[in-house]
Amino acid sequence: MMKRIAVLTSGGDSPGMNAAIRAVVRTALYNGMETLGFMKGYEGLMDGDSMVLDRAAVGGIIHRGGTILRTARSDRFKTDAGVRSALVQLENRKIDALVVIGGDGSFRGAAEMAAMGVPVVGIPGTIDNDMAGTDITIGYDTALNTALSAVQKLRDTASSHDRLFIVEVMGRDSGFLALEVGISTGAEYVVVPEIPLDIKKMCDHLHYSRKRGKTHSLIILAEGVMSATELRNSLQDTGGYDARVTVLGYIQRGGSPSSLDTILASRMGCFAVESLLQGKSGVMTGSVCGRMELCPIEDAWRIKKELNPELLALVDKLGV
Ligand code: F6P
Repeated sequence: MMKRIAVLTSGGDSPGMNAAIRAVVRTALYNGMETLGFMKGYEGLMDGDSMVLDRAAVGGIIHRGGTILRTARSDRFKTDAGVRSALVQLENRKIDALVVIGGDGSFRGAAEMAAMGVPVVGIPGTIDNDMAGTDITIGYDTALNTALSAVQKLRDTASSHDRLFIVEVMGRDSGFLALEVGISTGAEYVVVPEIPLDIKKMCDHLHYSRKRGKTHSLIILAEGVMSATELRNSLQDTGGYDARVTVLGYIQRGGSPSSLDTILASRMGCFAVESLLQGKSGVMTGSVCGRMELCPIEDAWRIKKELNPELLALVDKLGV
């Protein structure tokens, strides 16, 4: 019989993490269990920095960005000594199971704990959407909409001055965010790590769209390819273009979660706890074609999630 579970957030924060924490706590309470929250991800787990999360502790947080539990990236947890400290803290507090909310790096730690016999379920939270086993990760939709509204503003000034803009968006080594920001802003070109960059082709494309009467253009660049300044210099050298550069940066990680992220986080938080109650461990929650599913936690980094080729083709077809 499970009596007490723990939850932590780890890695880069993403909008909706608080809604997921709330769902974990409230589902645990619904099933007669108590929840402890560890602060600053695995750092707090190793140091025993925890707090009891009762019903009130998760009141009024569903709409808040960031994470009330704080977060961190921990190198210490990658050592044997770090894992041992975490196990001792869990044992001392009589924790029966752990919920880890974070990205693929955080899930490596979760897999480690599961291998040591701790029942663990992961909830994918990252704005990068780069995790296999789920169609969408918590925070991605909000980041996409934040970037969309910023780029729409840039388009206003780009069109007023007949300018070419390069906008760099986050995503680490993947191009999900860049691709969908590009489609939703009607960008002329999208550069993602998954497709080799051909500067000559990009210049020809820009030239062609200018010839067809376009007075301004937008290029959306995924940070994993190169910096926006490097791309601007290449465009200048190869095509003589004088582009303006904007790096959206950490603004993409903040803000209140969209309704999609809030609902996704609520469903995943609830599903994670119910899965633990059913004896599942070493798994992560996913939303697959609208249904809650589980997959092995290792899938998060072992399987490369592919960009949708239809969306890639769409940029080429519509961005001319
Ligand atoms: O993984 C989320 C993310 O925001 C990436 O898009 C970005 O590359 C990275 O985190 C930045 O990490 P940090 O917060 O450690 O600078």
